[in-house]
Amino acid sequence: LAERTRDDALELTTRAHLEQVETALLEAATADTALVTEAARHVISAGGKRFRPLLVVLASQFGPSAVPEDVVKAAVVVELTHVASLYHDDVMDEALLRRAAPSANARWGNTVAILVGDFLFARASDLVAELGPDYVKLQARTFARLVQGQIAETVGPGESDPLEHYLAVIADKTGSLIATSAVFGARLAGASADVQAALQRFGEEIGVVFQLSDDIIDITSDETGKTPGTDLREGVLTLPTLLARRAIGPDPIDPADARLGELLGGDLGSDEALAEALSLLRAHRAVAEARAEVQRRAAAARRLLAPLPDGPAKDALA
Ligand code: FPP
Ligand code: MG
Ligand code: MG
Repeated sequence: LAERTRDDALELTTRAHLEQVETALLEAATADTALVTEAARHVISAGGKRFRPLLVVLASQFGPSAVPEDVVKAAVVVELTHVASLYHDDVMDEALLRRAAPSANARWGNTVAILVGDFLFARASDLVAELGPDYVKLQARTFARLVQGQIAETVGPGESDPLEHYLAVIADKTGSLIATSAVFGARLAGASADVQAALQRFGEEIGVVFQLSDDIIDITSDETGKTPGTDLREGVLTLPTLLARRAIGPDPIDPADARLGELLGGDLGSDEALAEALSLLRAHRAVAEARAEVQRRAAAARRLLAPLPDGPAKDALA
């Protein structure tokens, strides 16, 4: 019964914090003009899992001294940063859909989408300053990693190993902010350095797992609220595609493999070529292999929780 009561207490705390995050997000997305307010609230209101805020809140349970207002603030900072990056990402990916709604660039054009992303990031900077210079520094370093990950993805692997390059890109563009979410929560709670370090490693790894799943779903699902095959169209090679390419090799015997290899080596800018590549990829065993790799990495991420003190917050993360 005692355990059950602790679980219920955590659930209540978490729910209360996340409700405050929603209100604060909309408040942060309020600007001097109706256009900017509407465009800034657009992606926030369209939904989202709020995984980063949840991680801030759960990590804040690992120390004695979290002040709820500060935890909410940190949760808003990481979500605003994430949403800001999506405004820019959709411009770069020429994506027309986000969270089952038209992307900001589809609705208002690239200039507004880029500037509204900047606006949201400015709001995040304003809030993080209230938490103190250590938090500003970590936020700034995370921003630098996001940007460098995104640039590395755009530039491509060059002569380096494509799989290693891809994993480094997703650690930077996704793992970094999720790791920072965990550190923010733990640090605000006054958690020990060891606990902060364990949560940081867990956050980074679970962030990579998240992006790996997102990239598989980009190929396999028609129900993501985004346009399937966006990565392929943009020439971004993700795990299933990299594994398929490796399996196909330079001299494929199987005709489906040969065709897929040909398509992946060419330009997937046309709707027909993209649709054919997607359907061949969906049928390829590389998708199952990619899913198995995600499961392996998710289990490895969960093992990183071992040094943390037992309790409902740890159970919630696992
Ligand atoms: C989504 O990748 C993109 C990211 C996780 C990070 C993008 C980072 C930037 C644009 C730089 C940071 C900018 C600011 C203003 C903070 P994806 O295209 O694979 O995901 P998707 O499927 O959700 O589109
Ligand atoms: Mg994208
Ligand atoms: Mg992208």
